[in-house]
Amino acid sequence: MTHEIAVIAGSLRRESFNRRLGQALAGLGPADMAFFNVPIGDLPLYNQDDDGAPTAAVSAFKAAVARASGVIFLTPEYNRSVPGVLKNAIDHGSRPYGQSIWAGKPAGIIGVSPGKVGAAMAQAHLRPILAFLDMPTLGQPEAFVQWTDDLLESDGSIGPGSREFLAGWMERFAAHVRLHAAR
Ligand code: FNR
Repeated sequence: MTHEIAVIAGSLRRESFNRRLGQALAGLGPADMAFFNVPIGDLPLYNQDDDGAPTAAVSAFKAAVARASGVIFLTPEYNRSVPGVLKNAIDHGSRPYGQSIWAGKPAGIIGVSPGKVGAAMAQAHLRPILAFLDMPTLGQPEAFVQWTDDLLESDGSIGPGSREFLAGWMERFAAHVRLHAAR
């Protein structure tokens, strides 16, 4: 059985380190996981007045996440928290009330930043959001990744310095997804 995994990077930047890391992670994935990127850049600012009339971008976003068996969030750290664009996407998926696309979906959190703390505080802020949304979230290993020029190879794959750690993270995440799929 193949598990479809949604990969959501919380950055709109063209050369986003988080998006590039997300793409590279897909190459490490266990054979029973298929990864697909879910873009968030076309989502309007969430407005509760529009719950009954979602734009095409909102509907497409929700449909993409809804078909996933699990979600990997890659969050940059903006001013020690989650970027607004990522929170906006999460809020869209959580509504209308009672129709959240997130509930019960196993999640994993990773973040990369040029700073040494590897988006640790943004990741810490994301955890209670996902807990509230009833997403069972992988606790360990945590993945606080510092961006360095050798994190990725020129072909976009994970460089040797981090490959073992991130492959291990993917194995743990995959086990987490399988556990929840079996329930
Ligand atoms: C940042 N950056 C940043 N880095 C960090 O480690 N802690 C922080 O609190 C912040 N705050 C912050 C605020 C704003 C508004 C910006 C634009 C940037 C730097 C950030 O880690 C860096 O720009 C990354 O490259 C962002 O991730 P992407 O876009 O490369 O995925």
